[in-house]
Amino acid sequence: MKTTLMTGTAGRIGTFLRPELAGKCRLRLSDIKPIRDLRPGETFMRADISRLSDMLKVTKGVDAVVHFGGQSGEHDWEHILSRNIVGFYNALEAVRGNGVRRFLVATSKIVYGISDNARAWFDDANANAWAIGRRIGAKCMRRKS
Ligand SMILES: NC(=O)c1ccc[n+]([C@@H]2O[C@H](COP(=O)([O-])OP(=O)(O)OC[C@H]3O[C@@H](n4cnc5c(N)ncnc54)[C@H](O)[C@@H]3O)[C@@H](O)[C@H]2O)c1
Repeated sequence: MKTTLMTGTAGRIGTFLRPELAGKCRLRLSDIKPIRDLRPGETFMRADISRLSDMLKVTKGVDAVVHFGGQSGEHDWEHILSRNIVGFYNALEAVRGNGVRRFLVATSKIVYGISDNARAWFDDANANAWAIGRRIGAKCMRRKS
């Protein structure tokens, strides 16, 4: 059975997906927050995505990575920079370094183009760090794929 790492598993999508994947693969759960209610087939490794050393450890020996870890909404620049820009880059570097063949990420429609709605939001200087972080992440992914 293959092993899948899921980052950000303590969050909304990870919590929802865990039972869906039960029995289909070995699940290595990871988050900066602890997860204690482990089910059969699940293990937990704490990792901070803003630390490359953590990401190299947690991605070792897995077949696939499903990446949900990071800042899921607007926040200050320090948060976005460490989690969605440096953190995302670290996830890609770790996957490459450990020869993981599959990497799946839940990002945002904002990376595919800017709708009128999103443009107003993107142009708002007080509420654009997250959108910029997402677009930088997508660019990194294209460069490394
Ligand atoms: N929920 C949605 O509707 C939706 C839609 C599209 C895309 N997404 C994207 O999917 C991803 C997951 O969404 P979600 O709703 O589950 O988000 P969430 O905020 O509920 O979960 C994110 C998880 O990342 C973890 N995390 C934060 N900083 C970390 C760090 N430094 N190291 C390790 N883990 C860290 C948090 O502890 C949290 O458990 C996000 O990137 C989000 O932008 C979500």
